[in-house]
Amino acid sequence: MCGIVGYIGNKKATDVLVDGLSKLEYRGYDSAGVAVFDEEEIKVRKYKGRMAVLEEHLKEEDLKGTIGIGHTRWATHGEPSDRNSHPHTNVSGSIALIHNGIIENYMKLKEWLIETNGDHFKSETDSEVIAHLIDYYYKGDLLDAVYKAIEKMEGAYAIGVICKDEPDKIVAVRKDSPLIVGLGENENFIASDIPALLKYTRDMYLIENDEVVLLTKEGVIIFNELRQEVKRDVFKVTWNAEAAEKEGYEHFMMKEINEQPKGIHDTLHRRLDKDDHIVLDGIQLTKEDLDKINKVYIVACGTAYNAGLVGKYAIEKFAKIPVDVEVASEFRYKEPFIDDKTLFIAVSQSGETLDTLAALREAKRKGARVLSVVNVVGSSVSRESDDVFYTWAGPEIAVASTKAYTTQLVSMYLIALHMATTKGSLEEAEYKKIITELKSMPDKVQKILDDTKNIQQIADENFNHENAFYIGRGIDVNVAYEGSLKLKEISYIHSEAIAAGELKHGTIALIEEGRMVVALATQDRLYQKMLSNIQEVRARGAYVIAVAKEGNKEIEKVADKVIYIPDTMDELTPILSVVPLQIFSYYIAVARGCDVDKPKNLAKSVTVE
Ligand code: AGP
Repeated sequence: MCGIVGYIGNKKATDVLVDGLSKLEYRGYDSAGVAVFDEEEIKVRKYKGRMAVLEEHLKEEDLKGTIGIGHTRWATHGEPSDRNSHPHTNVSGSIALIHNGIIENYMKLKEWLIETNGDHFKSETDSEVIAHLIDYYYKGDLLDAVYKAIEKMEGAYAIGVICKDEPDKIVAVRKDSPLIVGLGENENFIASDIPALLKYTRDMYLIENDEVVLLTKEGVIIFNELRQEVKRDVFKVTWNAEAAEKEGYEHFMMKEINEQPKGIHDTLHRRLDKDDHIVLDGIQLTKEDLDKINKVYIVACGTAYNAGLVGKYAIEKFAKIPVDVEVASEFRYKEPFIDDKTLFIAVSQSGETLDTLAALREAKRKGARVLSVVNVVGSSVSRESDDVFYTWAGPEIAVASTKAYTTQLVSMYLIALHMATTKGSLEEAEYKKIITELKSMPDKVQKILDDTKNIQQIADENFNHENAFYIGRGIDVNVAYEGSLKLKEISYIHSEAIAAGELKHGTIALIEEGRMVVALATQDRLYQKMLSNIQEVRARGAYVIAVAKEGNKEIEKVADKVIYIPDTMDELTPILSVVPLQIFSYYIAVARGCDVDKPKNLAKSVTVE
């Protein structure tokens, strides 16, 4: 949940580092800093605050060094401050280090260094301990010292290290936190994520767990944990640089909301052959495999978890296989039933969420078959799965997940339909009807996006609420969870999602005059029940914003406002009904002056447990 960048070459290091870190601010942004080898010493410049603060300070002095490391932080140990920001150094300042992750045994190491080496520390961070540990083992060979230090370390880390006495190299290590290497002409790079380097190179090495990398201007060598050199194919990035920029939208979030038709189209069409049969990227889930499976888990966090809830609905409805959906941070502590008859589906946009990765590893250790639904190619979750189903949403930069969610939904539907047709639990005619409707989704989402005036107006009239409820029945409840999360995380309005039928069992006590209630009423077969629930809350003074299918005029009699979505089959409505909720949350957050793309306390990829 921090961003790291390193550079060695002929350019001014600070230019490259600042540019790269600016592309990684979504990974954390409460402080930022650089360390540059300049005029025979390592100069560290680091400050609390956004990248703009660091940039201002760097303008005041002209660091000419051409090797350096940089870091943008999301605090885990020690509050955001100058002294807790990275890079960190050893006591003498001859070694500088950047770190993304958590060292779980840092206190023990810190105490040991104080007792045996008389070290004193400037910060409260776990990361500073790593710099001191490397210094402790440093006898003139930085690579060797790093190897010795990481043997002592427990936890997750992606680190970059430079040393005053070896100013022609950067050493980097990857364990559980993401790390990539960028390859250039007489220059090389490290970073947490691809957007940081796209301006300079498209040729990357994807670094695996427990690998150590030695970078010089001339080249890059990757070593395994036994210090044996390993060969790695060059990964060519196909994204164009602009894809990671805003392309004229005020915020990444609105850009990404508007990219959903393309993401849904790409995720869907790449998996349909000319006869509209599903081809799952070489994922072999044969009838024998499925018949052997007696337990399916979908495990994820946040929005990905909410997508998993729809996945459960789809797999149970179409494939008639029971599914448990679990929050990843709870999963492995529940002593789940896992063996070689278990199918474990991990859902993760970033593919680096450590809660999800840890749950996946537990499932794999116990023999489960692991299928992951991931958006970032080459991410940890994807590399540690038996099968990967990539969502083709493109880079999602805004912290609030939108296009990842809808493409995860499409992925879930495709997996469910593949299971159903493989098992023979779905008639061909019904399958064709669903696939035809799925193929109409990009256009139907586009239709919502083409006319958002009503949604924006409702948001502009309702941005002052401090509490909200999202209610629904059937599959609508799962979308209510996602709509509620979107509102909370970008507008800071307290919101709760609840099954509409559950309201009367307690929560309705909170409904009073003017309370905003967003009511999803898209399910034909549950519609009358939902109408009653809307009338229940209206009778207690609630202000009801309903989401309903086009053509339903009746609901205008019971709701204060109605947002319509194009008609579709009940089972597929989440792909459509979530879009107005994303847009509604967006405009409320804008009206409240919130930082839509980088909400307070949040990071795009949560790589700590
Ligand atoms: C969603 O808007 C949030 N940004 C957050 O809940 C996110 O979905 C969650 O952290 C999971 O991230 P992942 O999909 O990258 O694993």
